[in-house]
Amino acid sequence: MNRSRTSAAAASATSTDALVIFGITGDLARKMTFRALYRLERRNKLTSPIIGVGRRTDWGHETMRQRARESIENSLGPVDEEVFKRLADRMRFVAGNFDDSATYEALKDELEGTKDPLFYLEVPPPLFSPIIKALDHAGLATNGRFVIEKPFGHDLASAHALQAELTEVLHEDQILRIDHYLGKEPVMDITYLRFANSILEPVWNRNYVSHVQMTMAESFGVEDRGAFYDRVGTIRDVIQNHMLQVLALVAMEPPNGNQPDSIRTEKLNLFRSIESVDPAKCVRGQYAGYLDIPEVADDSQTETFAAIELSIDNWRWSGVPFYIRSGKNLPVKHTEVRVVFKRPPHIAFGKKKPEHQELVVRIDPTPGSRLRFITKSAGADSFEDSNLEVLFEKEPGTEPGPYERLLDDAIHGRPALFTHIDAIDETWRIVQPLLDKPSPVLPYEKGSWGPTEADRLVKGVCHWEEPWTPDSKE
Ligand code: BG6
Repeated sequence: MNRSRTSAAAASATSTDALVIFGITGDLARKMTFRALYRLERRNKLTSPIIGVGRRTDWGHETMRQRARESIENSLGPVDEEVFKRLADRMRFVAGNFDDSATYEALKDELEGTKDPLFYLEVPPPLFSPIIKALDHAGLATNGRFVIEKPFGHDLASAHALQAELTEVLHEDQILRIDHYLGKEPVMDITYLRFANSILEPVWNRNYVSHVQMTMAESFGVEDRGAFYDRVGTIRDVIQNHMLQVLALVAMEPPNGNQPDSIRTEKLNLFRSIESVDPAKCVRGQYAGYLDIPEVADDSQTETFAAIELSIDNWRWSGVPFYIRSGKNLPVKHTEVRVVFKRPPHIAFGKKKPEHQELVVRIDPTPGSRLRFITKSAGADSFEDSNLEVLFEKEPGTEPGPYERLLDDAIHGRPALFTHIDAIDETWRIVQPLLDKPSPVLPYEKGSWGPTEADRLVKGVCHWEEPWTPDSKE
């Protein structure tokens, strides 16, 4: 495969003149897509028709508009009627099975005169390739860009196989793989925090950093997603993608603003220097009650919690452990990155040694950053924390949400926030040993921080920190 070739679609990188959504009748559209489209319409970012394609023969244009209204109102409250009318006027619906050529003929009629269609495949991964091939057969793929949802493959081999299938028809630069974490404002803030503040860069390396802890915790379980989740588990669901993408932004070398796509290049270099994880450096857990979830196998060994240690084998990070933990049914819904600096020597304070200084970046909820300073306790011969905190959001709720931003980028042909196949390859390579030789799955209670064995991973270096929740005192 020649990855350097540029397709007609990418070479022009014009704004799309038709957005086609496969799977518009599904859950993702109901929860995310309509709401994102409405917010884009409100900001006058939409210019093209929106054509939904779905298997529901009882749906028509009006049903799609009605579903759009319901899902927008459910998440955002009453709509602005003028904005909604503009959005609804763009919407059309094509009913049909995805394996029926008549569906694509009907779509072709709808797309008459269109030059740069954008196809958003909100469908299960096994349907990506058949749909793209059918679009190609109907003569609709050549100039198209294709947004596809995660997961891209189930492991390294299946990701390769899927890529081979897609590139029978498409060029790499026509494929926009969504990882919604990359569209999150606080995740993008990491690059600004690191490289727009010259005091951080000199200490952002193995000379000053002791270790890095990343936590992505969810306070709810798998609920009605048993059929999906039981085949996936935490490592595939959020570590191979969301967490490694965030880690790359935390650890990459400075991007060069004069080079196009330089952040993706630096992230790829970083992934290449992460060693594949040794299963002995992974603790997997499963919460009590998981096996009772509908469509979860009775003897399931799927993890709902994972903690891993990663090593980055490069000049900046050699010897600095990066710890990641993530799980369902943990005490809070919270995502943060904690960069912990080395402790200073005790010399200045007799036998006492100040604690670690640290910088926490909170991604969810209430994005912000906190720098921990150690100061003298008033009136006492001891230390205490004095934290410098900054919240990123100026006006909560006004910034574009992840799907809104990523759809906007896809519509206007900006690929930087989508995952390139080379990064997909590397991230699967990093976690592959954990899939080949999974460590035993250990039980944990709902509402706990996972199996206590997770402490073993960090022993001798640190302990897992309580997250910096918006109301925590620490
Ligand atoms: C999805 C996973 O990709 O990310 C879910 O499939 C997870 O299991 C979700 O709950 C978390 O996203 P966020 O934005 O709520 O942190």
